[in-house]
Amino acid sequence: MKTLAGKTAVISGGAEGIGRNLAETLGRAGMNIVVADIEAEPLAVAQSELEAAGIEVLAVEMDVALLEDWQRTARLACERFGKVHMLVNNAGVSGGIGAIETLDDPGWRWTIDVNLMGVVYGANTFVPLMKQHGEPAWLINVASIAGMAGAPLGGAYTATKAAVVALSEAWAVELEKHHIHVAVLAPAFVRTRIHQSYRNRQPRYAPSIAPGPEVLKIASNTARAVAGGIDVSIVGQRVLEALEAREFYIFTHPNYRPVTDQRSEAVSSAFTRAAASPLLADIKNQKIVTFDSK
Ligand SMILES: NC(=O)c1ccc[n+]([C@@H]2O[C@H](COP(=O)([O-])OP(=O)(O)OC[C@H]3O[C@@H](n4cnc5c(N)ncnc54)[C@H](O)[C@@H]3O)[C@@H](O)[C@H]2O)c1
Repeated sequence: MKTLAGKTAVISGGAEGIGRNLAETLGRAGMNIVVADIEAEPLAVAQSELEAAGIEVLAVEMDVALLEDWQRTARLACERFGKVHMLVNNAGVSGGIGAIETLDDPGWRWTIDVNLMGVVYGANTFVPLMKQHGEPAWLINVASIAGMAGAPLGGAYTATKAAVVALSEAWAVELEKHHIHVAVLAPAFVRTRIHQSYRNRQPRYAPSIAPGPEVLKIASNTARAVAGGIDVSIVGQRVLEALEAREFYIFTHPNYRPVTDQRSEAVSSAFTRAAASPLLADIKNQKIVTFDSK
């Protein structure tokens, strides 16, 4: 993709997994890469491997849940590369899992702070810089197929990923006039270390209850599903292909279409029933309110 060469991308959670693959794919497409991650060792490995592949790299240790870490990353990125044209809000954790009563408060906070506030802080930090330089830019948020349909026993993860999908939908319209293309990546299972996210759990979110047998069972089922997922190398290439076509929803698992179709059909038939209700007859043809400033 010619438009990417010489531009700069910041990738959160870029030391491993999907973020690491995106760093390499975008770097090979000619972009300067800022890999930002909470784990120092994998970050150093990623940096040296990317440099060995001839990619211009800046590695920054940071926690996406801390706004000041984002600000420091932005400062370092601009010092090194001048401008940032792409933010990939990729860092994420599987988070607290289990039935409603087994999901403790620290598990909820950890999941929300990383998966949702990490995305918000990233956008808050980089979007103003993109608006300022005014060149074509990209904001790519990594959600999940779980954000397109609720995943039972994964309430916290599902909630944050649904929020990332919704935020991306809102931002896509908001940022269009600033030439910032927003996209949301919604993969199903990809072979990474996402099922071992507890390795990234900051001490301030230490669990308040020990995992029971149900939670351990879900964890082992998730590990099995991840092991059966697609190879991570497909993801970066798929993102590149989708960006070229200026796609908004980026899917990597066409076999999951029935999941979203089922939801769309349920929503559509619920509207049909609402439209048939005598209680709502006057509302049916009212003009809808939008908040678009265009
Ligand atoms: N692997 C899958 O099956 C799958 C499916 C759907 C969505 N996703 C999403 O893809 C994204 C990447 O996950 P992955 O599968 O590559 O997992 P991964 O665990 O292999 O990689 C996640 C990376 O994020 C980093 N990270 C975690 N917490 C962080 C924090 N607080 N600050 C900065 N960096 C942090 C980790 O150190 C790691 O390098 C996540 O948002 C995840 O929810 C993954």
